[in-house]
Amino acid sequence: MSGEVTLSGKVAIVTGAGGGIGKAYAKGLAEAGAAVVLADINLENAEAAAKKVTEAGFQALAVRTDVSDEESANAMAAAAREAFGSVDILVNNAALMAEIVGKGTLTTMSLDMWHRTVAVNLTGPLLCARAVVPFMKERGYGKIVNQSSGGAFMAANAYGITKLGVVSMTISLARELAPFGIRVNAIAPGYVNTEAGFASAPPAVREMVAKSIPFPFGDPEDLVPGLLYLVGPGGDWVTGHTLNIDGGWIQRT
Ligand SMILES: NC(=O)c1ccc[n+]([C@@H]2O[C@H](COP(=O)([O-])OP(=O)(O)OC[C@H]3O[C@@H](n4cnc5c(N)ncnc54)[C@H](O)[C@@H]3O)[C@@H](O)[C@H]2O)c1
Repeated sequence: MSGEVTLSGKVAIVTGAGGGIGKAYAKGLAEAGAAVVLADINLENAEAAAKKVTEAGFQALAVRTDVSDEESANAMAAAAREAFGSVDILVNNAALMAEIVGKGTLTTMSLDMWHRTVAVNLTGPLLCARAVVPFMKERGYGKIVNQSSGGAFMAANAYGITKLGVVSMTISLARELAPFGIRVNAIAPGYVNTEAGFASAPPAVREMVAKSIPFPFGDPEDLVPGLLYLVGPGGDWVTGHTLNIDGGWIQRT
């Protein structure tokens, strides 16, 4: 398999698609030929991102979704099916990241904040997977990509714990869903230039990052080829894998 990834005829859902990386994922999937559902708790941002995709001549639909709410996740999957007939690809990208910064450490953060972080970052991807899996099983095919983070492998408090949980969930779901033709993988990005990324890494951290990581900062677009590889036919023999796209951060140099 070589050449450009084509996803024509496929239907993809991207959660958190109103945010910096989600927007790029949705655009990349649409440009590869998929009809894209942009799901976000912030409908205004999802609609703005969807408008850009449709204005470029591709199919897109914005849906207000709270990934931490089972009914909302199910409604998201149903909306995708109603609009485009099926769900082939789920990108579990929504998460709380900047929102957690400055809210304390493991021993000092409020229990409410801990529960909310787990609900969005860990239970959220599971609920969205559970919402789309029945549709994928019907077709005997599906691709799920969970957004982890390099923070999963560092001391990154509640955020890191949920993102390492995403890696583990990816391994278990990959095993459980393989008999149905569904592949489940994860992407663990390094420091990405998004508003949330800047808010999560203040100047002192960015200075340290610039000194210690071989290629310290990436743009959302740098993650798109990896996503297209995993969800395209070229990635059909890959499941349970976490792809580090991080400029060498994981080497811990
Ligand atoms: N930016 C980085 O440096 C970086 C690095 C590693 C991993 N990540 C991961 O990439 C993903 C996107 O990051 P980003 O920088 O684009 O952040 P972002 O904050 O711009 O995007 C996150 C999006 O998720 C949405 N969201 C939050 N809670 C939600 C909920 N309950 N239901 C539905 N949507 C919800 C937000 O409205 C937002 O649009 C996250 O999973 C993040 O942890 C980011």
